[in-house]
Amino acid sequence: MKKDHSKTPFFTKLKAYGTSNVTPFDVPGHKLGRKENDLTKFMGKEIYQLDANAPRGLDTLSKPTGVIMEAQALMADAFDADKAYFMINGTSGAILAMIMTTVKAKEKIILPRNVHKSVINALIFSGAVPIFVKPDIDQNLGIANGMSYEAFEKALEENPDSKAVLIINPTYFGVTSDIKKITEKAHEYGLVVLADEAHGAQFYFSKELPISAMEAGCDLSALSIHKTATSLTQSSVLLLKGDRVDENKLQSTINMFHSTSPSGILMASLDVARKQMVMEGEAGILNALNLKNKYLNRLKNIKGIEILDKAYAEARGFPDYDATKLVIKVSQLGITGFDCYRFLADKYKIQLELAETYLVLAIITMATEEEDFIKLCEALEELSQVYYGIKEPLDKIKFNYDFPDSFCRPRVAYHAPYKIIPLADSENEISAESIMIYPPGIPMLIPGEYITEDFLNDLAFYQENGSVIFSELNNGYIKVVDQENWLWEDKDE
Ligand SMILES: Cc1ncc(COP(=O)(O)O)c(C=O)c1O
Repeated sequence: MKKDHSKTPFFTKLKAYGTSNVTPFDVPGHKLGRKENDLTKFMGKEIYQLDANAPRGLDTLSKPTGVIMEAQALMADAFDADKAYFMINGTSGAILAMIMTTVKAKEKIILPRNVHKSVINALIFSGAVPIFVKPDIDQNLGIANGMSYEAFEKALEENPDSKAVLIINPTYFGVTSDIKKITEKAHEYGLVVLADEAHGAQFYFSKELPISAMEAGCDLSALSIHKTATSLTQSSVLLLKGDRVDENKLQSTINMFHSTSPSGILMASLDVARKQMVMEGEAGILNALNLKNKYLNRLKNIKGIEILDKAYAEARGFPDYDATKLVIKVSQLGITGFDCYRFLADKYKIQLELAETYLVLAIITMATEEEDFIKLCEALEELSQVYYGIKEPLDKIKFNYDFPDSFCRPRVAYHAPYKIIPLADSENEISAESIMIYPPGIPMLIPGEYITEDFLNDLAFYQENGSVIFSELNNGYIKVVDQENWLWEDKDE
């Protein structure tokens, strides 16, 4: 880091503008919060004063030459990248832009199958051919982990004409793949390396945490600054390093996915979060990790509770683990993660990040406080007292976490003629939609994949357990490819 990170060029200028007594004959229609409403009463009109659209002097996100350019340069410096792009439509937008820039229709991209839905959407937009690598699947925990180096290498050797590889760093549950080794091998073969660091922004500010994508030599990385750093929801960053990616094309593609009225508030929050992470991140993350360690034994001593750590990742063949994730296995209590999630929310007002079949996930950031750990310990202790030894451990339920085989590219199935049929009659059909529980938003089924008995059983299991299911139809029906009316021309787009 070389620059002066105490500065917030975009936020400073925006604040000066919003409070400058300007006469606004432009949009937005609230005219910097002149008319009182429920939100101004709650938050003050200051929030509206920052909601300027594109006045003179505040630069343009699609072609920055002023304060946005300066703020983005500071962001790049903070993340050891050559360039950084503010994204106001989350890491989902950044992922669409990075895949659309680097892989054209019918070109191959190697990626683990447990990617976020935005990656599948990017495959539909771009028409790229996914070379899916089966990630490590832990049937005991019901989760998918990283893509092993060996599995990547095999995919690469079978598909040396691939154009890109996408690595998740880390997965939602904290496991990291050998990103450096994969990147080096991919570069040897001329591939561009893309990282999904939606859950990895904190890696750039702590020596205690796994290696970041930029340090590993990746070409592009999409980071949710709003998830594990401190900016507002929906604000993310796309990082670029080196010269394997065409910068002009990248900016044009980013612009396709951005509104022409980007939120100044979101951009200001990125500017301010960058300053905060640089100035306070290392100490803040260390403090949070020390707090976690202080309460770890208490958590581990709760009967029926298990906590994942680096030893778990290593035992499954992965180099590192993100200690800011607190994965808590509860199935030995005879309850599902969904039961635990509801118990903690209803009884203790503890909001967890997500529940899965056998576990729950808590996310720790520099804003996590000691009180939070104490409350979590108390809640889990009570949960254990209620259930431990009373119910049989859940580990033998019929649940088979895996991914179905694929018939064709997601884009081909997405654009195919479709029909809507009852889920009960859909086995062996080809899906025309993505279905997932959210969070984590990893599709169990994507367009082009076969509908299997395992998928239908797992979906029914999630439904019975009250998970939030994202699908296009939610009344027992599914969109499948209408194979009888499927012409060859459609299959070849
Ligand atoms: C692995 C992964 N990638 C990408 C995303 C998309 O991030 P965002 O919510 O910032 O659009 C998510 C969101 O949960 C995610 O879990």
